[in-house]
Amino acid sequence: MNASTKIGIGTPLSRVDGVDKVTGAAPYAAEYNVANLLYGVTVSSRIAKGKITAIDEAAARAVPGVVDILSHANRPKQAWLDRSWKDELSIPGEPFKAFHDAQILFAGQPIAVVVAETFEAARFAASLLEVTYEGEAHNINFEASLAEKFLPKPGSRRNNYHPPKSRGDAQAAFNEAAVSHEATYHLAPEHHNPMEMHATTVEWHGDGKVTVYDKNQGSQGVQAYLASAFGLGKKNVRVVNAYVGGGFGSGLRPQWQVQVATMAAIQIERSVRVVMTRSQMFTHGYRPECTYTVKLGAEHTGKLTSIMGDATTSTSRFENNMEDIVTWGMMNYASPNIQGEYAIAPRDTYTSADMRAPGAATGLTLFEIAIDEMAYKAKVDPLEFRLINYSEVDGMNETPFTSKALREAYKEGAERFGWDQRNPEPRSMKEGRELIGWGMATGMWDAQFSKTAASAKLSANGHLEVACATSDIGTGTYTVMVQVAADTLGIAPEQITAKLGDSDLPTAPVEGGSWGAASTGAAVQLACETIAKKLFKAAGKMDSKPLGDAKFEDVEFVEGTIRRKDAGGQPLALTEVMRASEFTVIEAEETASPGIGGMISMAQKSRNTHSAIFCEVRVDEELNQVRVTRIVNAVAAGRIINPKTARSQILGGVTMGIGMALHEETFADARLGRWMNHSFAEYHIPAQADIHDIEVIFVDEPDAEVTPLGVKGLGEIGIVGTAAAVANAIYHATGTRVRSLPITIDKLMG
Ligand code: MOS
Repeated sequence: MNASTKIGIGTPLSRVDGVDKVTGAAPYAAEYNVANLLYGVTVSSRIAKGKITAIDEAAARAVPGVVDILSHANRPKQAWLDRSWKDELSIPGEPFKAFHDAQILFAGQPIAVVVAETFEAARFAASLLEVTYEGEAHNINFEASLAEKFLPKPGSRRNNYHPPKSRGDAQAAFNEAAVSHEATYHLAPEHHNPMEMHATTVEWHGDGKVTVYDKNQGSQGVQAYLASAFGLGKKNVRVVNAYVGGGFGSGLRPQWQVQVATMAAIQIERSVRVVMTRSQMFTHGYRPECTYTVKLGAEHTGKLTSIMGDATTSTSRFENNMEDIVTWGMMNYASPNIQGEYAIAPRDTYTSADMRAPGAATGLTLFEIAIDEMAYKAKVDPLEFRLINYSEVDGMNETPFTSKALREAYKEGAERFGWDQRNPEPRSMKEGRELIGWGMATGMWDAQFSKTAASAKLSANGHLEVACATSDIGTGTYTVMVQVAADTLGIAPEQITAKLGDSDLPTAPVEGGSWGAASTGAAVQLACETIAKKLFKAAGKMDSKPLGDAKFEDVEFVEGTIRRKDAGGQPLALTEVMRASEFTVIEAEETASPGIGGMISMAQKSRNTHSAIFCEVRVDEELNQVRVTRIVNAVAAGRIINPKTARSQILGGVTMGIGMALHEETFADARLGRWMNHSFAEYHIPAQADIHDIEVIFVDEPDAEVTPLGVKGLGEIGIVGTAAAVANAIYHATGTRVRSLPITIDKLMG
């Protein structure tokens, strides 16, 4: 097979949607031109808990251009039972229903929407709405909420989480250990803030049908949700999310703006747009705050004998959001004795939510700081310590991995970084007034696969269209679809169009968990293979017998042709086959499911990505200002479809990890029951000047078992462990161990 002429899997193709995005031709949810559009501005609750006793609308309604004001008092009918409000990623509890009743569950809760002919009129009128409340005692302080922590009963309606297993006697092994470490680590709450704010444009067609342009990570999930919650019927609701300006998990579940916009459209029987303000982006899900006590025991050599973890994360009072915090360390390292505890603590906020690598980004990151501390106690180099405790199998479940090239990642990352030049002594490296520190950490995430369908349509002129209802939240899904199709059918990428982000397209799950490329890619490949077989069959019917007696296995699809692999005979153009067969189009739709292509089940083997992160920081000795000057992230993630977009995913993940280490933190005002810093002026994320050298390495990791294409996914692994590498480098630079992220200047001043 002449692979060199193929543009497909493994090619660093630039994003096929890139030009449309940077020229503004790609429409986002709030940008669709819809005739006769109304603008809704949502009013947020000023109190954290209690109820609305009165809404005086007089002044607001008097504003010219105002069409209607909706609240719990006059909203249209909506489903009463919680089960009608279930979404694709529902978590146990009572899902939030905007304007359902007078109850206030959290500060910033949407309580009314002012709808007007112009955005300006709606915004001004919204400011005139007089709402009277009856407040109740509330708590949004995490420390205080720990008094109420609990673990919902396994198997109950309020639990979808299985606490970690225990093995051996971890407490006894810890007590007897030659070297031991116990400390409590903390992660501040973080709010997802993608560039595009949550927005919905509901197009009211007047015939009982609506088209909902919505920012989300799964159009079909939102379609089913709206159909059920508002009794619309699925066939009457089409949801489009063709372009999504980032998600990080905030669009996994339908957000309240889609409820509000849909409700207003139903009530007024017109098209309505609702966009969250940046401040309102702090009134829904967030990465849960976490406290995590780690206990480690080891022999003199540094070999671990006991791993214990006890974590609590925050949730709301109406839903039980749970994360897998403590199992990651136990999966990654070998220890005969393990024991884990977990609980959730409710407070009066919106429910916490999945945010890029939920669970692992918190749990493994904090654990990797503990591992660094343990390595120092055992007087073993941090990289050597990890190799001593390297687990060939999933240490939690005692199952083999489909592949684990973490050893290679450690090696290649360390070489590129120059780790062997490191003086282990803290505060031993200095340049001018800057202390220099080198630290490292391990990352790990799931390599999942989710049932996905795709269609392919080849036209007589040689143009191919592939389609799937999946989303591209900025991860490169459009490009991956084009590449897999190009690879399978040997058609040039310029001749291929990918369609996604529309509930009318073949069934796909929400885009999350890093399963998008593996799952959508497999579905596109299957559909294109069916097209290939149909083309081959049509070629066989041609009078000239251009492929002779070749069987399907004997031919390949290259450069827009079918040709014999043995190079006997001329290449046969696909367009020629189409002409000869008098087909105007050839179409196929296929579904990729776990279990196809000889894939083994989850129970038999563990599927994970791994990474090794090496970090250099420079800390101003007088000001305690930290700069992350260099990061090398070596990633083992199976087969890489596109080295360019793959690298971008890791750059983004690492940048977010630097934010977790140094910047991101939402502060709770316990008195008002509000998040205080609900703006980009005060909620800090890394900006250009904070990001220096980031080098990404993909280590070779062939894996025929993990997914049909051997792809493991890259959306999330880049963030996992990165903040630990930064924290460990800061310790090496300064000798100050900070166990609470983010590491801000005040904490370093100690
Ligand atoms: Mo991700 S938190 O599964 O969008």
